[in-house]
Amino acid sequence: MLVHFVTDEPGKIPAIRAMLEPRYHVASQLLGDGETQIGPNGVLMVDADLREAVRVEQVKHVLRELRSVTEKLFVVQSHIHHMVAQAYALGATSVVRSSREIVFKLAEIEVAQKARQSDIAFASPEIAVGAAAFASMFAAARSGKSINLSDAENATSEIVKGIAQNGLGAWLDSVRRYHEGTFQHCLLVTGVAVGFALELRFTSLDVKRLGIAATLHDIGKARIPLSILDKPGRLDPVEDEIMKSHPVIGYELLRDLAGISPEVLDGVRHHHEYLDGSGYPDGLTASKISDLVRLLTISDIFAALIEQRPYRPAMSREDAYNILCGMDGKLERSLVEAFRNVALLA
Ligand SMILES: [Fe+2]
Ligand SMILES: [Fe+2]
Repeated sequence: MLVHFVTDEPGKIPAIRAMLEPRYHVASQLLGDGETQIGPNGVLMVDADLREAVRVEQVKHVLRELRSVTEKLFVVQSHIHHMVAQAYALGATSVVRSSREIVFKLAEIEVAQKARQSDIAFASPEIAVGAAAFASMFAAARSGKSINLSDAENATSEIVKGIAQNGLGAWLDSVRRYHEGTFQHCLLVTGVAVGFALELRFTSLDVKRLGIAATLHDIGKARIPLSILDKPGRLDPVEDEIMKSHPVIGYELLRDLAGISPEVLDGVRHHHEYLDGSGYPDGLTASKISDLVRLLTISDIFAALIEQRPYRPAMSREDAYNILCGMDGKLERSLVEAFRNVALLA
């Protein structure tokens, strides 16, 4: 389990590391310093003097960045009672007062998280394996480590297996129940793309290739700040530019990976291109956009529309399909027609 420790005193970091490592992986951050990015399974631990207004503002900023983290542990010295109320007002899920309480609380959270993961694994083992592979790839991409292509291959083959056994509908329902944010999106796009490839009776090799491209298509988002990625509502022009850099970032993260196929790299870089040249990052037109990319783009848009977001409900599959039908000139009409069965029936 990852413990993301945020403090206003550099001196507290070695003490926390000594207390928690190697049982937990500790990532530390000084308040007011840089971006905060952790996955939804980490625990945020805040140890700061909440009597200072500037500290409170900095903590609020970190909490905004980490909306998806469910466990927020605040460390408060036992003699400063009113800081406890302040911690809860800021969104603490628990307040701890001593080293003993920290260790005890973390152990409790760990047990609860494991129970939740085994619930998911029991309900849908393919999702559990797929999600674990996504978590590993995103963590690597975020921390500048090399991405393991076998994670993408494992996630893809589990998703192919899940959809072949239970159908796309069951897959979409389970993913939306158990995951959120970028993970949910990648799991959905991969499911939709695999369903599409199966509908078109692709060879198993081609199903796998499209599935891997879908699995990796938004890996560049691992480097986009969560404040932009999860922002409710419209992005401003600067944020929009940053967001639009994700296909190139993804391409660069994967380019030198041994065993990566040129088709997959093409999919990662070009899944936001449109046939009429209005897409990004390269403004490609129809003759330069491969079949795999065309399929991936349709799957990506459809999946994004049927996703639940904290600030908007999921669109029905019918409404999402109608939007694709209205994108004439941007998407290949014959493929959108072929997608009908995937969108509405599968
Ligand atoms: Fe994308
Ligand atoms: Fe996407």
